[in-house]
Amino acid sequence: MGSQKKRKVYIFDTTLRDGEQCPGASLTPDEKVEVAKQLERLNVDIIEGGFPAASPGEIEALQRVSKAVTKPVICGLSRMLAKDIDAVCEALKFAKRKRLHVFLATSKIHREYKLKKEKSEILKLAVQNIKYGKKFFKDVEFSPEDAARTEHEFLAEVVQAAVDTGATTINIPDTVGYSLPVEFGSLIAFLVKRIPVLGKTVNLSVHCHNDLGLAVANSLAAVQNGANQVECTVNGIGERAGNASLEEIVMAIDTRRDLMNAYTDIHLKEITKSSHLVSHLTGLVVQPNKAIVGRNAFAHESGIHQDGIIKMRETYEIIDPKRIGLSVSEIVMGKHSGRHAFRERLEKLGIKLTQTQLNEAFARFKKLADQKKYVFDQDLEAIVEDQLSEIPETWKFGYLKITSETGMRPQATIGLKREGKTQAATSDGDGPVDACYKAIEKITGMKGRLSHYAIQSVTSGKDALGEVNIKIAFGDREVGGRGTSTDVIEASVKAYLFALNKVCAHLEKKSTSPI
Ligand code: KIV
Ligand code: ZN
Repeated sequence: MGSQKKRKVYIFDTTLRDGEQCPGASLTPDEKVEVAKQLERLNVDIIEGGFPAASPGEIEALQRVSKAVTKPVICGLSRMLAKDIDAVCEALKFAKRKRLHVFLATSKIHREYKLKKEKSEILKLAVQNIKYGKKFFKDVEFSPEDAARTEHEFLAEVVQAAVDTGATTINIPDTVGYSLPVEFGSLIAFLVKRIPVLGKTVNLSVHCHNDLGLAVANSLAAVQNGANQVECTVNGIGERAGNASLEEIVMAIDTRRDLMNAYTDIHLKEITKSSHLVSHLTGLVVQPNKAIVGRNAFAHESGIHQDGIIKMRETYEIIDPKRIGLSVSEIVMGKHSGRHAFRERLEKLGIKLTQTQLNEAFARFKKLADQKKYVFDQDLEAIVEDQLSEIPETWKFGYLKITSETGMRPQATIGLKREGKTQAATSDGDGPVDACYKAIEKITGMKGRLSHYAIQSVTSGKDALGEVNIKIAFGDREVGGRGTSTDVIEASVKAYLFALNKVCAHLEKKSTSPI
C-alpha cells in the first residue's frame, strides 16, 4: 500500500456558499473578502464564493473576491437557467481562474415533487444548460442534486451525458446526508467503473451533508473509491447540520496517509486561524468537543492522560497541535510592552497591518492591558479582527452605566455617539443586557428582535476577554453581531451595535444604489 503513488485530493471550499446558507450566517462583501483571503492562505484549490443569481450584493461580493484572491479557482453556483449562468459570468468577470457550477436534482422524490419533470426532461435540461455554460466557461462543474438517493442507472446516464457535453468536474452530492459510508463508497465505485474517465480526465467530486453526522466519513469513503475532489466548509458549517468539515477531512487524509494513499495541498498551519475567523465572522460558535478545532480537542483533563502526555505526547495525541497552527495560550504581553514588541508579536501570528491600523490596534491593546493582567495571542487576534471589520460605525459606543440591586429590575444608562454627538437614554429590563438593548432602541429608534445570544471567553482566567455573539432581526433582516470586552455587558452592547451598524450600512447602500 505504502508504495502506491499518492493521489492529490482537490479541496473545494464552499464556506462562502453552502456555509453561508446557515441561518443567520450571512456575510457582508467585506467579510467574504476577508474569509476568501484566509482561504487562499490555507491554500484551498477552489473557492465557491456564492450564488450570484441571489442578489446584486452577491455579484458584487464575488467580483471583489475575484480581485482580491488570485491563486485558487473562484467558482459561482447556478441553477439550470440561462439567467443564473449569466449572473455567474458577471460575478466572475474579474477572476483569473474561474469555474461555473451548475446543479439539477435527479432523484425520484425531487423529480416528482419539486421539479415535476420526467427523466427525459431532466437529461435535456442538463445537456442544454451545460452547453450554454460551456460558451463562457472552460471549467464547468455539474452536480446531480440528491445524487445519493437517485436510481443508480439514471444517475450514470445523466453523468455520462454531462461528461459528453463537456463538464470538467462531476460532483456527487449527498444533499440530505442520508448515506452510510459503505453505501456512498460503493456508489462512487459504481460510477468510476461505469464511466472510467471519472477521477482521471474528468474530476470526480463529492459533497456530503451531515444530517446523520457522517459527512466526513462518507467523503473519505468516496476518496478511497476514486473521488479526487472533496467539497467542504471550515468548521463544517452549512445547510441544516452542515457540510463535511474541511479541517477533519484534511487531517484525516494527512494523519492516516498510510491507508488513504492521498494528499491535499492545504497549509495545515492555517487551519486554526481559518476556524477562528469563520466562527468570529459568522457568529457560529464552534462546539468545544469538535474534532481538530474545538476548544477541548487538545485539552487533557484526566490525570492519567496528563501524565501520559508529559512522558510522551503521542500516548494521547494523534496530531501535534502545532501542526495546525494552535499555539498553547502564551502570555505575550502586559501593559508595559512596547509598540515594537507588539508589532513583532502580531507578525508572528501572521497579522500584517498598515502603520495607521497598527497605531489603532496598539491603542486598543494598551486599553485592554490596563483592564487585564495578561494578554494572550487569542486576545490580540480578537482585537485586530474587531478593528478590521470594515462596517462603518454609524453608532459608536460611548459609555455604559448599570444600576442593579437585589429584588429590583436592573437599569441601564447608555451613551452612543453619532456624527460626533453623544445621545443617551435610560431603560430598565429583565436583566442588564435586556435593559441595555432597550436603552439602545430608545436612542436609535430601531427595534431589534434577539433570536440568539452566546457568550464565550476568548482566553482563560477570571479577567478573560469575553466574546458575545448574537443574531438579531430588524424587520425581516436577520444579522449577526459580535463584540469583545473584559466586561460581558459591554461586549453585549458592542455586539448589538455591530449588528445595528450592519443594517444601517445596508440601508445606506440601498438608498444610494442605482439598482
Ligand atoms: O447539497 C447540495 O446538493 C448542494 C448542491 C448545490 C451541490 O449544495
Ligand atoms: Zn449542499
